[in-house]
Amino acid sequence: MKTRHVLLLVFLMMIFAACSNDTEQADNEVDKSSLIPALSEYSDEEIEDIDRGQELVTHTNDMLPENVGNNLSCASCHAGAGRGDSLNLIGVTEKFPQYSEREGKDVTLEDRINGCFLRSMDGKEIDPEGETMEAFISYFEYLSKNIESGDQYDFMTVDERADNIPAPNVEQGANEFSRYNCMSCHGRAGTESAYTGPDLWGPGSFNDGAGMARFSNMQYFIKHYMPKGQEGTLSEQEASNIAAYILMQDRPEFEGVNRFPNGNKPDDYLNEETKEALRNNYLDWTDFERVQDE
Ligand code: HEC
Ligand code: HEC
Repeated sequence: MKTRHVLLLVFLMMIFAACSNDTEQADNEVDKSSLIPALSEYSDEEIEDIDRGQELVTHTNDMLPENVGNNLSCASCHAGAGRGDSLNLIGVTEKFPQYSEREGKDVTLEDRINGCFLRSMDGKEIDPEGETMEAFISYFEYLSKNIESGDQYDFMTVDERADNIPAPNVEQGANEFSRYNCMSCHGRAGTESAYTGPDLWGPGSFNDGAGMARFSNMQYFIKHYMPKGQEGTLSEQEASNIAAYILMQDRPEFEGVNRFPNGNKPDDYLNEETKEALRNNYLDWTDFERVQDE
């Protein structure tokens, strides 16, 4: 090949590389599984820890009955053990330590995981220095290996709630819940069942101090990730109605206090107090900051 041709070829390759880079940066449409490293890069001992971490995320209630008070696993919300679409955990180790409004101070990833044990799992903290915690962290480090602090991808969990949620109608929500066959997977909540979806309320579900007990989080989750297999088919209004219907049901009470010592406490936790107020009409759904007036 003549030098001229080689130069032209190099030039074209540079343009091509620049363009493909641009589109990637523009919409960040990466295949998230391609960011997860090959296990062959790890030693047998490391692989054992990573596998145990993944098992723990997937079968939390079976493996840690002392620490889990309900029927959930981390994967009940963090789909695909943190590799899926909902509440993805790839890159999570790069986000901690992080300031937490709820605690009023910087928290470590270990603190954050234990926050989920107390609320989402309605259970007890695990030893922050024990082997179980080590396995969780090894797994999350493995998922995050190719992510650098500050990287932003669309699949990352940032602020999984909407502003301007249309005010819900709980009775409509009850109808839509059966119309969209949520029960075909979620079974009858609170009863023992062989269905594939986790308990949405009752003693087997998360407690009212959990992130998911916030109306805005629940609405967003349903709008974007349910019904599984037909995600995105519900309207904002339908997701709002169904979220309200689910969160108005009984669930375990969080025994600690969601302190928010420096203020900024979200107003949309549906705990006993707010549910009572809503039932008796001295609180209106539109009183919540993220819910829109007609
Ligand atoms: C009932 C649903 C639910 C369950 C079960 C659950 N989580 Fe979460 N998790 C959430 C929600 C919602 C958030 C988003 C933060 C928020 O607003 O509370 C979150 C956030 C997180 C974060 C921070 C993510 C980030 O990008 O900042 C970590 C880490 C985490 N969860 C780990 C776990 C672990 C480990 C378990 C199991 C022991 C678990 N979660 C169980 C709902 C859940
Ligand atoms: C095809 C089965 C299936 C259908 C239908 C389905 N879900 Fe789910 N749902 C799941 C699975 C499985 C999970 C666990 C997370 C994951 O893997 O995506 C889940 C998780 C959830 C969660 C978070 C976990 C929890 O316990 O709160 C909510 C809320 C939820 N679904 C609501 C709904 C609603 C509302 C509908 C109907 C509009 C619905 N789902 C329809 C399978 C299903």
